Amino acid sequence: MSKKVLLLPGDGIGPEIAAEARKVLDLVNDQFSLGLEMDDALVGGAAIDAEGDALPTTTWEKVEAADAILLGAVGGPKWDTLPPSERPEKGGLLKIRAQLDLFGNLRPAILYPQLAHASTLKEDVVSGLDILIVRELTGGIYFGEPRGIKTKENGVREGYNTYVYDEEQIRRIGRVAFEAAMKRGKRLCSVDKANVLEVTMLWREVMEDLSKEYPEVELSHMYVDNAAMQLVRAPKQFDVIVTGNMFGDILSDAAAMLTGSIGMLPSASLDVNGKGMYEPCHGSAPDIAGQGIANPLAMIISAAMMLRHSLGMEAPAAKIEAAVDVVLDQGLRTGDIWSEGMQKVSTVEMGDAVVAALKS
Ligand code: NAD
Ligand code: IPM
Ligand code: MN
Repeated sequence: MSKKVLLLPGDGIGPEIAAEARKVLDLVNDQFSLGLEMDDALVGGAAIDAEGDALPTTTWEKVEAADAILLGAVGGPKWDTLPPSERPEKGGLLKIRAQLDLFGNLRPAILYPQLAHASTLKEDVVSGLDILIVRELTGGIYFGEPRGIKTKENGVREGYNTYVYDEEQIRRIGRVAFEAAMKRGKRLCSVDKANVLEVTMLWREVMEDLSKEYPEVELSHMYVDNAAMQLVRAPKQFDVIVTGNMFGDILSDAAAMLTGSIGMLPSASLDVNGKGMYEPCHGSAPDIAGQGIANPLAMIISAAMMLRHSLGMEAPAAKIEAAVDVVLDQGLRTGDIWSEGMQKVSTVEMGDAVVAALKS
């Protein structure tokens, strides 16, 4: 049975890394006779420029019809002055996440041993690192109401957002995290700010309650400020981390650097049924866009996650991951993961090398 895969390249380096993921997917599609029906569509700034909307109806229809979606990145300085709800981030990316109810965001930070030198942290701190950040993606302060900027009676403007989670939202992301922990090291650290914020006091209570259903999983709690510090001090103490939308956004960028570069960190955003959107954790990198030097590996590894998690295609997923391992063994590095003695390659050369490894 054929499966519809929608590619949303987006903005900045998005189209550059999407092209490399497309090459990889086209190849495994042939090699394994996967029957993937590949399509693409505009989203974000590219869609604003072409159609005046970050998520045009034509794109949304394809998103809805797809079995899985692979997104590059959206946003950039060109669109930063638009009203918030029209911008690529809120009007495109967050809208897809919300409308598809992609609440479960998995961000695995795994250090490829070949990149132990590329991390800015000492090799023994990161070697063997394999942690999973489970981030709630469709709630919290990103979506809470009321929100806005208003002028107070004294003429002073005030910006405000609302940090809100209900028990059901907490429970369902908790369940994703406990289930993930069961398949891994059975240790779950819930990150909150329960010393100050009521919303996370409730978060902690619900996690504790849920843990009764998972007696094999060792649940611990940590305040987010300490968690940020512990992630760079001794990241291997963690197995699975579960946290809310904004804390997860911040902690996952920090975790990315443990793996050498944000250009290495993939992600999956899933609904209750496993339909998902897959994207690298990084953004559109306007500072290097158009130069052909972006690292396409987070995008390519995201494609592998998509095959595995949403399409049930384990063999090609594992083969792509093995191919990434091979190119790293060969010493090929884009600038962000380059170190002395390694061969510096472009985005296209890195994609070509993965394709070559898949063919060999
Ligand atoms: P960013 O992740 O785009 O870039 C941060 C730094 O990391 C930059 O120096 C960039 O060059 C580098 N970098 C990122 N990805 C890389 C890659 N694959 N290879 C090599 N280097 C890479 O974050 P930012 O600069 O804060 O944001 C830029 C734009 O991207 C903003 O408009 C932001 O809203 C958007 N953004 C989008 C997403 C997304 O679509 N999922 C995620 C994050 C940020
Ligand atoms: C991410 C990004 C997005 C987020 C932005 C672009 C809205 O930073 O996917 O990590 O904050 O979720
Ligand atoms: Mn982010």
